[in-house]
Order: sequence, then structure tokens, then C-alpha cells
Amino acid sequence: MSVDLISPIAQHLAVHLDLPFAQVAGLLGPPSRPAGDLALPCFVLAKAKQVAPPQLAQDLVAVVEELPGVSASAAGPFLNIDLAPEMVAEAVFTALLDDPVQALRSDQGAGKRVCIDYSSPNIAKHLAFHHIRSTMIGNALARCYRAAGWDTVRINFLGDWGTAFGRLIAGWQREGLCVEDLQAADDAVTFLNTLYVRISQAAKEDPSVAEEARAWSRRLEEGDARARELWQLFKEASLKEFRKVYDLLGVEFDSWKGEAYYEDKMQPVVDELQDQGLLTEDQGALVVDLTAQGLKKPCLIRRADGGSLYATRDLAACDDRFADYAFDRSLYVVDLGQALHFKEWFAVAQCLQRPYVDRLRHIGFGVVLMWNEEEKSWAKTATRNGVPMLLVDVLEEAIRRARAIVDEKNPELDEDERQTVAQSVGIGAVVFNDLKSGRRGDVKFHFDDALSMQGETGPYLQYAHARLCSIERRFAATYADPPSADPQLLQRSDEKTVLLHLARLSGALLRVVQEDEPSALAQALLAMAAAVSTWLSAGNQDHSARVVCDDPARAAARVALVRMARVALGEGLYVLGLQAPQRM
Ligand code: ARG
Repeated sequence: MSVDLISPIAQHLAVHLDLPFAQVAGLLGPPSRPAGDLALPCFVLAKAKQVAPPQLAQDLVAVVEELPGVSASAAGPFLNIDLAPEMVAEAVFTALLDDPVQALRSDQGAGKRVCIDYSSPNIAKHLAFHHIRSTMIGNALARCYRAAGWDTVRINFLGDWGTAFGRLIAGWQREGLCVEDLQAADDAVTFLNTLYVRISQAAKEDPSVAEEARAWSRRLEEGDARARELWQLFKEASLKEFRKVYDLLGVEFDSWKGEAYYEDKMQPVVDELQDQGLLTEDQGALVVDLTAQGLKKPCLIRRADGGSLYATRDLAACDDRFADYAFDRSLYVVDLGQALHFKEWFAVAQCLQRPYVDRLRHIGFGVVLMWNEEEKSWAKTATRNGVPMLLVDVLEEAIRRARAIVDEKNPELDEDERQTVAQSVGIGAVVFNDLKSGRRGDVKFHFDDALSMQGETGPYLQYAHARLCSIERRFAATYADPPSADPQLLQRSDEKTVLLHLARLSGALLRVVQEDEPSALAQALLAMAAAVSTWLSAGNQDHSARVVCDDPARAAARVALVRMARVALGEGLYVLGLQAPQRM
């Protein structure tokens, strides 16, 4: 059960106004400026009642104040509502005390299913740093949807098809390589990359090599056993490397069906388009004209040489996903650079009157920029000596730096624990940096900023979590047999602020799902952590404000709030894809 501060007030107002409960409840929410605990903009309601908004706001003051623990004031067209701390505490305790994880649970998605296509890298290449975006936005969305009650299908649509494989096979055969060579390599993907470079160079110098590569591509498409065997070998070797990074990030998938899987499933789509008269020829290629859909360029369905295309494959894959999962929503977490691709094939799906068209969403995002120390500027493709920064390199570097911080701050921890904490903090820093702001914007990554314990960072939230854990430990050591927690004893305004932030987390979760925007939760957690920090710091000056104070009853009530905040923060970090260490 999530905390509901709104319904009783909305109910009371709705009866008074003789308007639908849902209409009033939908307007009542956190104030945009910190003017009160809740605010009601009166424009719409005033129109329905045919009075001026400021007049209505004024009239409603006395109405809401009929409720116990509620005070109000009008500010122009807004009704600002203040709730008594005990009332907020009572509501939060009722909803969360037994199971604080409920702060981030909802049944909004019950009975609904969402497919999420994310990460989806190309085989035989490394996961570059920019892959963090699709991978971690997708991961966060999958976990948030699940927390909101949806059934989730996590899909890694591997780019495991294309002419590159013909080249690789040709190179492999020419050089007389064997499985052991690949297995002996430190890193199979680098091995394949250098093979690719060598064969491409050879093909440039000798046209017969290029022809050989084309021949292998054809054989691969036709299902030649040797070609398939090598393709499979390359694919598995790359997957092994990918999995190492996914394990480090804690990312999982339910389906790994890649592009190759759809090789023989595209013709039916092409035939259907043909039958419906939707295909036109354009310099030998087959296209669907989309001018009626408001798109200038047509969507390419088949190349002039008969080869299939990205859009056709996505259409076939979508039919397949709908047949398998009957999704209510299907997300494609792919950079904004591919926005047109998604517009185009969504439009073709509309031409085909697919029942699922309205359920498709392209979840676009901006690029990640990395600080280039040599050039003193933000660079789009971060490189180290001209080689693209690999995701794994960035993660390992972040872990190394976090380890140095942990060694300095937590010398009391043993070696293993220090390394575990460093891993959580290093990775958390990189991941949170990617999720903290609106996904459509570009993200700047700088190690020092991301790892800072202050500001909008993962380590800041992780530290807040660890600080709460330590207070719980101190409480347990101080009071062996504590009284039960009484919400009426939480009367401080800084305690109320923490309670209100806790109560708002479920709304933030629903916004993530509604707008496919993990930053909504990231920001709500930052706001809650800031409120927690203000509250805990009050105890430094004022002894009576301390959580583990001399009065056992008050201490028990406060530590109950500490525990709820700690569990909610830990859960919030988890759904965003971060670990929450107990000590740091
Ligand atoms: N493999 C593609 C790339 O690296 C991304 C695939 C995204 N998913 C999709 N269904 N198109 O650009």
C-alpha cells in the first residue's frame, strides 16, 4: 500500500464542490514551490463552478480546515494545504512501517505486459562507453515497470547479422585460424576486431580477397554449414565478453533473439506489403511511401541487391514479439540519432493496420560526452590514444578511483569488503550520472564529478543510505529492548519533510512509467536524501534532535522513520540499477 495523503482531502473537497472525486484528486499534489505540503490549483474547478479561481481558493480554505490536522491558505488561484506532522506520520506509518518497500510499489500495471528492447549491441564489437545509456536506461525502466506491477520482457536485440561476418569468416579461413586461437586470446572481441582490420586491409589491396568475403557473406545467408559454424563461434565469443560487463552492471535479459533470428521471417512482411499495394519501386529498391503519414522520405524495405533492411527486420521482430507476448506496451531504448528509423517503421506498421501500433514507443536519449583532458573539452566519442573508450574500461577506472576513496575513508573494513564497496560506488557513480537528468539531453561524464560525495551523484545517495544503516546499528546497540514506534512522537518539521518525501516516492515511480523517464525517480531520491541529511544534521547542534536520543520512546519513533527511509532509498537505488552498501 503506498502512502495516500491526498484521497481524504480530495474526497472532502469533491463532496463540497459536487464534482467527481477523480477530478479533484488529479489536481491535488505537491506544490511546485515549497509553499505548503500540498497544493490545489483552482483554475479548472473554478471554471466548473463559474467563479474566479482566487475566489474559489479563498472559499476552500475553511472547507479543508474542517478536516482534523489540516490548515490552509489561499495564494492567488492556489489553495496551499499544510498537514500536521502527526497526521503525515500516521499515514506513512500505516502504509509503510511493516513493509517499507511498498514506498516504491504500485499495482498500476497489474495484468499488463511491457517489452523493453535495450542495450542491443552489435556482435564482434566492444561495448563502447556510450552503450551505458541504452543499457542502464533500459535496465532502470524494466525494474521500475516491474515495481509498478507490470510484467516485463527484457529483450537484447543483438546486431548479429551483416556483411562484417562474411569478412571475418574470409579472414579466418585465409589465416588458417582455429578455435584454440580464439580461446587463447585475452579478449575475444579484440581478437575479432584485429582480424577484421587485417582482412579489410587485404581486401583493399587485393580485389579477389574482397570477392572472397562477399562469397562468404552469401554462403552465410544461404546457411552453409562452415559459415554458420564460424558465425556461431564469433557470436558466442562476443556474448561471453558482453556478459562480463552485464554481470558487473547487474543487467539481465529474458530474450537474446538478435537480428539473425529474423532472417527468414522478413519475407512474409514484404509479401504482405506487396499484397496490400503498399510497396513501390525506387531505383531497384522496394520502399513504402509515407507522405500520407507526414514523412518526407519513404521507408526502405528491400535493397536493390535483394538484401533486407533494418526497418524490415524491426517490423518482423515486432510481429514476433506481439505473437509471443501480446504486449500492452513495447519500448525501444535507442539513441535519438535513430529517431527517424523508428518514426518510419512505426508508420509502416500503421499502414499495415497492426493492432499494436499505438503501443510502440521509441525511448530516445542524448549522447554521452566525456571530458578530454588533453584537449580540455567535452568529446562525443571518448578515446584513449585514438581507441574508443570501452564501457568496461570506464567501469574499472571508476572502481579503482572509488577504491582509493574507500581505503582513505573506511580503513576499518577488511580487504574484501572494501573492494565490494568500491565496486558498488564506482559503478553506481557511472550509472547514476547517466540517469539523473532527463534522458533526452546529452550527458556529461567526468570521473571526479560523478564520484563526488556531494551534489547529484550516486555516491551521495549511497552515502545517505549507509549513514541511515549506521544509525540503525547505533540504536540497536543502545536500546536492547526498545518500545514500539509511535508516529505521534514525530513532531519536528524536519521529520515531517522526510515523511513527505517518502510519501512522494510512489508518485515518482508512476511518473517513470508514464513518461519512461528514470530521472523522475532519481530526482525524488535526491530530494529525499537531502531532507534526510538536513534532519540528521540537526542532531549535531541540538542534542534533543538526535535520532538515538535519551528518550527511548522518541528514539524508537525516529529510528522507525530512519528504517523506512533507508529501505526506500535502498529500493530506489536498486530499481535505478545501483547497489546500496551498508557501510562506506
Ligand atoms: N544494434 C543497433 C545499433 O547498435 C541497435 C538496435 C536497437 N533496437 C532495435 N530494435 N532497432 O545501432
